[in-house]
Amino acid sequence: MNQTPTDTVVRRANLSDSRAIYDLIRANPEELIARPLADIARNIDRFTVVTLGGELAGCASYTILPEAGNFSGATVELTSVAIRGDLRRHGLGRLLVEAALGRIRAFRPEQIIVLTSNPGFFGRLGFHEIPKSAILHKIYTGCMNCMKHSNPFTCPEVAMAAPASAPATPPLP
Ligand SMILES: CC(C)(COP(=O)(O)OP(=O)(O)OC[C@H]1O[C@@H](n2cnc3c(N)ncnc32)[C@H](O)[C@@H]1OP(=O)(O)O)[C@@H](O)C(=O)NCCC(=O)NCCS
Repeated sequence: MNQTPTDTVVRRANLSDSRAIYDLIRANPEELIARPLADIARNIDRFTVVTLGGELAGCASYTILPEAGNFSGATVELTSVAIRGDLRRHGLGRLLVEAALGRIRAFRPEQIIVLTSNPGFFGRLGFHEIPKSAILHKIYTGCMNCMKHSNPFTCPEVAMAAPASAPATPPLP
């Protein structure tokens, strides 16, 4: 892996990042579900971004999947993870996802998951594969509305989970 560029900043997104996040997600149609610009702006407080020289280099977000009858034990799904194509393999994805995980862990979910076509990357970050039958709330709330794959159990995306707790990280700017 090459070194992370020095003018890299990882921070919470703000509304002026919305358009660049929208473009970055749309640039990865094979791996990511496109989101309307208004949806991104409405949920901008859930996005973490990495910038390089002030320009957006990557984004990550999350969705909370409550467990009926056990609301203190929600699962959180990491979503919309992307690094700009020309900036990959420099460690930016790791920085971004570790920062997003720090934010997620701060509200103490029972489980942190991702559904991904890139299990190699998440495996390097400490995620491990889990059966899709273990995340039926995701299947019912998200996969049932999926426009890409008709059957969540045969869809090629791999379900993975990260340790839900870890030492606290400093808050992001
Ligand atoms: C997946 C993605 C975010 C990785 O970003 P990145 O900046 O290239 O990742 P990093 O350079 O930080 O890599 C972190 C580690 O993962 C490894 N890695 C990165 N991409 C990988 C891949 N496709 N397969 C296997 N390992 C990979 C790196 O070698 C590195 O390992 P190391 O730290 O142990 O040396 C980026 O490739 C991307 O945006 N892909 C398209 C969208 C996507 O697939 N998003 C995830 C779906 S939810």
